[in-house]
Amino acid sequence: MKKLRSQDWFGKTHKDGFIYRAWMKNQGIPDDEFRDKPVIGICNTWSEFTPCNAHFRELAESVKKGVLQAGGVPYEFPVMSLGETLMKPTTMLYRNLMSMDVEESIRANPMDGVVLLCGCDKTTPAPIMGACSVDLPTMVVSGGPMLTGKYEGKNIGTSDVWRFADQVRKGEFSQEEFREVEACMCRSRGHCAVMGTASTMACMVESLGLSLPGNAAIPAADSRRKVLAQFSGRRIVEMVKEDLRLSRILSREAFENAIKINAAIGGSTNFVVHLLAIAGRMEVPLDLEDFDALGSQIPLLVNLQPSGEFFMEDFYYAGGLPVVIKEMREHLHNNAITVNGKSIGENNNNAKCFSPFVIASIDKPFQMASGIAVVKGNLCKDGAIIKPSAATPALMKHRGPAFVFQDIEDYHARKNDPDLDLDENSVLVLKNAGPKGYPGMPEVGNIGLPKKMLDAGITDMVRISDGRMSGTAFGTVFLHVAPESAEGGTLALVQDGDMIEVDVAARKLHLEVSDQELEHRRSNWKAPDLGFDRGYVGHYIKHVQQSNLGADLDFLRGKSGSEVSRDSH
Ligand code: FES
Repeated sequence: MKKLRSQDWFGKTHKDGFIYRAWMKNQGIPDDEFRDKPVIGICNTWSEFTPCNAHFRELAESVKKGVLQAGGVPYEFPVMSLGETLMKPTTMLYRNLMSMDVEESIRANPMDGVVLLCGCDKTTPAPIMGACSVDLPTMVVSGGPMLTGKYEGKNIGTSDVWRFADQVRKGEFSQEEFREVEACMCRSRGHCAVMGTASTMACMVESLGLSLPGNAAIPAADSRRKVLAQFSGRRIVEMVKEDLRLSRILSREAFENAIKINAAIGGSTNFVVHLLAIAGRMEVPLDLEDFDALGSQIPLLVNLQPSGEFFMEDFYYAGGLPVVIKEMREHLHNNAITVNGKSIGENNNNAKCFSPFVIASIDKPFQMASGIAVVKGNLCKDGAIIKPSAATPALMKHRGPAFVFQDIEDYHARKNDPDLDLDENSVLVLKNAGPKGYPGMPEVGNIGLPKKMLDAGITDMVRISDGRMSGTAFGTVFLHVAPESAEGGTLALVQDGDMIEVDVAARKLHLEVSDQELEHRRSNWKAPDLGFDRGYVGHYIKHVQQSNLGADLDFLRGKSGSEVSRDSH
């Protein structure tokens, strides 16, 4: 085994070694733990403000058991946590900040390998991004989804929040019923129980080869989640001995596998910005167009909300992601190596499906082509995306007049106005919701239909925005328009009544306004005053990249490795 990195701290003699060891010994650590044992950092995104990760102290204990069993030494450390439901204005504003915390915490401390405990939406990509920039042996243990919600005998999950909210607005559901349903939906530990962003991220992790097989779907409350955490603790010690670093796992082939598997599971649109950002850290070439070229023709194999019917718990009982990977084998790079040292093919080729209602075979998919489509046009020179499996087929080709909301506050101020000058053919345009413009690119792209439309019985309309959409949401929504409106993209120049043509089959998003008129409007356009000139947010606005590049901070792309050149003592 090559010399352990941690021995640059604990293996030292004289004053420095004394200091490194002596203060650790106040935790009751015997001296032999500092002699050539792999030190495993357990990066804990636990927080009581992040309810999806609130069980992670307990999960860390299972990882520790495994590390000790394999002869390693586990040390748990906290990092920033991002709770999707509570943090304002949006967790995406802090994803890159959290990744910096993880990166610097790993590099600065005496660890040889690291286990990332990941759960709620951004608490998966952010730690991975940070870990990629250090490139130690690293694996992920996900926290697992909640048990399926139950309300009045029916299954419910996060995707129903939008439906319940619309029912309240239409007067079909009382406030009392609304309050009651809250407890019925979130009835166990874990993250959102549908194929939203958190579950998509957990599947991404498994598809990239960053976790043990089966990690994505085991419910948080199932005892087998702890067993997987314990096995992961054992395995990370071996990974250190094998020097199996992230850069050996995260090849271009691994990213291509992840894109294809994401299409097969009908994963969240947020997958796109997060995978692009991770690839940027690993210095693996990956473009927005790759998501369409590799994923859009992949069939949908999973019948989970929000695109389908079932929940993550059902997915686990049906066999989970290993079944999908096995069914997808003709499309995948089966030799891509994973954290257990075996290839993704070896890991999953014996998987068994226990419910064809939840996981389809590749010969009889739930839908023929389900991956994310990338559209281009004068309205989005650098692209925009749509998730066809969550959209209304009849609206995928549509032409209608723009109805513009200048920002999300404008939308909230007018959404219930009965006199809005629009109809079901209108195209709802939301500006200033991009990475810089909000700032933080919130999940508001799927603005609810104006009350006038709901009252008319309309259930979906074409919507276009530079913002994101919750992975648990649905609708014919074009998202991540780049360049965004706050950067002076064409989206900023759209006016009420401009005709917009969308054609997903032709990958087209076109504003029917002449170049000459657009130039005229551009000359009168003023960049919005975002009002932040200090602190992290000020720095973020100056450095955040557009969504087609992953919305990372420009100075964080790439990696710096694990070397620390100077000692402090
Ligand atoms: Fe945490 Fe949905 S709110 S995963």
